[in-house]
Amino acid sequence: MDELSNPVTAPPPKVFLETFGCQMNFLDSELVRGRLAERRYAFTTSREDADVVAFNTCAVRDHAEERVRARLHELKRAKERRPDLVVAVLGCMAQREGQALLQRFPHVDILCGTREFGRIDELIDRVRGGGGPIVALGDHDVLPDWKRDLSQRPHRHSAFVTIQRGCDRACTFCVVPRTRGPEVERTMDDLEREVRALVDDGVVDVTLLGQIVNAYGRKSGGDASLARLLRRLDRVPGLLRLRFVTSFPTLLTPDLMQALTDCESVVSYLHLPVQSGANRCLKRMARGYTAEAYLRLVDRLREVVQKVELATDIIVGFCGETDAEFNATVELMRRVEFVQAFIFKYSERPGTAAAQGMPDDVPQAVKAARNQELLALQESIQRRRNRARIDSVEQVLVDGPSKRDKSVLSGRTSANRIVHFRADAAMIGRVVQVRVRDATALSMSGDLVAAG
Ligand code: SAH
Ligand code: F3S
Repeated sequence: MDELSNPVTAPPPKVFLETFGCQMNFLDSELVRGRLAERRYAFTTSREDADVVAFNTCAVRDHAEERVRARLHELKRAKERRPDLVVAVLGCMAQREGQALLQRFPHVDILCGTREFGRIDELIDRVRGGGGPIVALGDHDVLPDWKRDLSQRPHRHSAFVTIQRGCDRACTFCVVPRTRGPEVERTMDDLEREVRALVDDGVVDVTLLGQIVNAYGRKSGGDASLARLLRRLDRVPGLLRLRFVTSFPTLLTPDLMQALTDCESVVSYLHLPVQSGANRCLKRMARGYTAEAYLRLVDRLREVVQKVELATDIIVGFCGETDAEFNATVELMRRVEFVQAFIFKYSERPGTAAAQGMPDDVPQAVKAARNQELLALQESIQRRRNRARIDSVEQVLVDGPSKRDKSVLSGRTSANRIVHFRADAAMIGRVVQVRVRDATALSMSGDLVAAG
């Protein structure tokens, strides 16, 4: 604290906070809201109404950054009209661009990096007290010690919990190690405390988050590991579902596979990004495994973990990707039949090894065509696999009314398949059994058989 952080005497400022990107960003925004609520800031869903406009940003692909740049352009006028409006850019894009962002958008008052969220209240106070612009991109991570404000949770029954931040790998396409820094981990005691508090507050479904979540434990050097953590959390009474994302293929230990089979609450679902099915491409990406090794791992998983379902991420059009390499990815997808696949067109990220040493030479039109081809392939796989479940009985965690039809409830199977059915709203937050009657590529529908 310094002399600029005066106590705010005026009515509490209203904050508009918009979040871009991954689940971790959404959880970070929840923590930021908790921090600000503690300091009696108010919130608004209207930018026009706000005293502080903050964007929690993503830098993984240029498209995500472009959306924030458009928002910042839009705010130029508002800032001219109301010079006391505070404009803050939080998270990965602030961290990646630093001062350059301020040069381009001089009306931005605060750059708050991924390890500075814990000071957001102080930074806003300083700007409102006449300071700024402020660039806070330090590398100390105060966030994991935050006391979570349970009143800020966006969902009653489901919650994210960050167990690890940052990434020590260096996949050549990826900006995350630069924006989120090296791996840092929370302790198992701290995590168990948080999960118990969440469950006491009504949560039944917890997703553990980490950039490379199955590396959990290796940094601290003690007895912590993801498998041990799962076993501990599995014993928390009332926790019905426990999942974790995102896993790195080479770090999937036999111990972790065993925990997946032993722990009742841990779902048989793994998000295991493969990125490409071609060895030369994987090598240029510096992923550290071959397609054959990935497929062996899939076979092993399917042997050990009954009914395991796999999801993946794939990049098309990475530097130098040939037709033959792309076809190897098609082959791998046909072979594995993922339950879900997130497919991205390669987007060059400044500062990465690929941007420095490899030309982004696959034409946009080719990237777009490959993207479409994989989306269509995945859709046909999902449709076939979902339709194969017609007449089966699924265990469904009920999320709430369906977005399209409020008279229908929507829930998820343990493999994240969406299921619609009619039932009383009292079922929300419970695991029920639904017999599947119909299915498309994106969801299934059916009848309630039994309430869990
Ligand atoms: N381990 C992280 C990865 C973050 S990035 C996680 O939690 O998922 C998420 C996905 O975005 C990656 O798996 C990759 O498929 C994709 N991606 C990362 N960098 C990219 C880039 N430069 N262009 C296109 N897609 C990218
Ligand atoms: Fe990115 Fe590779 Fe880490 S995709 S987050 S550098 S494991």
